[in-house]
Amino acid sequence: MLDITAVPTQPLVAASILSADFAYMARDVQDVLDKGADLLHVDVMDGHFVRNLSMGQDMCRALRRHFPDVFLDVHLMVEDPELFVPQFADAGANLCSFHLEVCKPYKPDGIDAEKMITTIRRLGMSPAMVINPATPPDGLEPYLKELDLVLIMSVVPGKSGQKFMPEVLEKTRWVKDRVGSKTRVEMDGGISPATVKQAVAAGADTLVTASALFGATDRKQVIDQLHQA
Ligand code: DX5
Ligand code: ZN
Repeated sequence: MLDITAVPTQPLVAASILSADFAYMARDVQDVLDKGADLLHVDVMDGHFVRNLSMGQDMCRALRRHFPDVFLDVHLMVEDPELFVPQFADAGANLCSFHLEVCKPYKPDGIDAEKMITTIRRLGMSPAMVINPATPPDGLEPYLKELDLVLIMSVVPGKSGQKFMPEVLEKTRWVKDRVGSKTRVEMDGGISPATVKQAVAAGADTLVTASALFGATDRKQVIDQLHQA
C-alpha cells in the first residue's frame, strides 16, 4: 500500500475513475494500475455541492474488494461530509478529502473543519482538504499542519474533461510553501501531458487525471509523461 506521507521520488499519478467505463470498471482500473498509476481517485458528487451525481461508498467497497492493495483517495464533493466519512471508512477508503467551502465560516451552517480532520484520522484514514478555483487559500492555513494532502482544484468541480485553469498555480505555490514534507499537494482538473509541467513547477506532487488518461489510446505513455514531469 502506498504511503501518502512519504515524499515521492516522482509525481504520483492518481487515476480518476470518473472517466473509466463504468460498465467495465475492474477492467479499466486493472489496466491503468498495470500501466503505472499509483493510486485511484474516487469522485463523489451529491447533486448539491455540485450539480451532478457520480458514485458512492459502494463503488469504493467494490474497488477495495477487487483491488485490496490499491490506495483509494476519495474526493467528497458533497455538502455534508460528516454524513458520509464513516461510510467511506467502512468501505475501505484510505483518504477522504472535503471542501473548505462546506466548512464554517464559508458556509455559516457548515461543518467544523477541525472536527472533521480529527474524525477522519480517528477512522484510520488520511485527512485532506480541497479548495475550488475561486476560493482564496488562506482559509486553509489553520489546518495545513494536520493534513496529509491538500487538493487544489484546477477546474470548477462537477465533471471531467474541462480545461485546466492556470490561475490556480499561484495559490498552489502558496500552499506548497506552507506545508511540511509529509503533506502532499494534489492538483485535480485538466491535467494532461500538455498542462502537467506547470502544475509540478508550482508544487503539485500528486496529479489527478481522468479524461486525459482513460480517453488516451496509449495510457502508459500518459502515465509515463506525468511521472516524468
Ligand atoms: C472534477 C473531478 C475530477 C475530474 C477530473 O469535478 O473532481 O477529479 O474527474 O477530470 P479531468 O482529468 O478530465 O479534468
Ligand atoms: Zn476529483
